[in-house]
Amino acid sequence: MIVLITGGSSGLGEAITRLIAQQPGHTVYFTYNSSLTNAQKIEADLGNAFAIKCNFEIEVEVNALKTKISELGIDVLINNAYSGEPIKTYFHKIPAEDFLADFQKNMLPAIILTQAAINTFRKKKFGKIINVLTSFLINTPPIGSSVYVANKAYLEELSRAWATENAKYNITSNSISPAFMQTTFTNDVDERVIEQIKESHPLKAILTPAEVAESVLFLLNSTQQINGINIVLNSGANIK
Ligand SMILES: NC(=O)c1ccc[n+]([C@@H]2O[C@H](COP(=O)([O-])OP(=O)(O)OC[C@H]3O[C@@H](n4cnc5c(N)ncnc54)[C@H](OP(=O)(O)O)[C@@H]3O)[C@@H](O)[C@H]2O)c1
Repeated sequence: MIVLITGGSSGLGEAITRLIAQQPGHTVYFTYNSSLTNAQKIEADLGNAFAIKCNFEIEVEVNALKTKISELGIDVLINNAYSGEPIKTYFHKIPAEDFLADFQKNMLPAIILTQAAINTFRKKKFGKIINVLTSFLINTPPIGSSVYVANKAYLEELSRAWATENAKYNITSNSISPAFMQTTFTNDVDERVIEQIKESHPLKAILTPAEVAESVLFLLNSTQQINGINIVLNSGANIK
């Protein structure tokens, strides 16, 4: 399959890029923004993974990627990139403009790219959309996460709409919702907090990008009968 993953050059995205590219028969196109050196290393290591520069904050780069989607004839789109920090401050202290800015640099690119992907998929009568959400949508959202969880909730509902609108064209849309992972995204989290997360974890082990990538691979390989689901990787933390 021809796979396009956004933000596939670092963190969870890199784990997904590497795992899929290691399976026979797949070609992976992955976008990067700041991780150029890592993107080059992934290309050199794998041979069937190709980097595409795309900064979600630059309209012309998003539109160029949109055009490329039809040229590449992709079978799978993985919406993974997220621009901006997950934790800001209390909702009432966040400037209202920040909600719009984060929507513009995250949701609009995901919308534009997914529209292009669906147009390609409908012609092929096949396609898979996989969206990376967060377990914050299922667990208690941490203080300061309102912008982030609102964007992810928006993507979650889009995923369900994509699933129902496109099922008869053999196109699926599914999501994964991981719990805390140690990536650049969570670099600001204090060591003591990380220890607490580990201590309170039923497995006494923090979720890794490699484990989450396995769930993405499952969705990639799964029957098209699986549609509209959200795989939650939180070790049952929401069960009271
Ligand atoms: N870490 C966690 O605890 C956690 C938990 C649940 C869900 N997630 C989700 O997992 C996904 C990946 O996050 P991560 O943990 O792997 O963190 P990460 O390594 O910081 O990944 C974020 C990705 O987004 C890309 N990105 C950032 N700004 C961008 C921009 N302006 N334009 C285009 N791409 C941009 C980055 O590309 P460059 O590196 O090239 O700049 C990077 O590949 C996100 O959707 C996040 O919400 C993370």
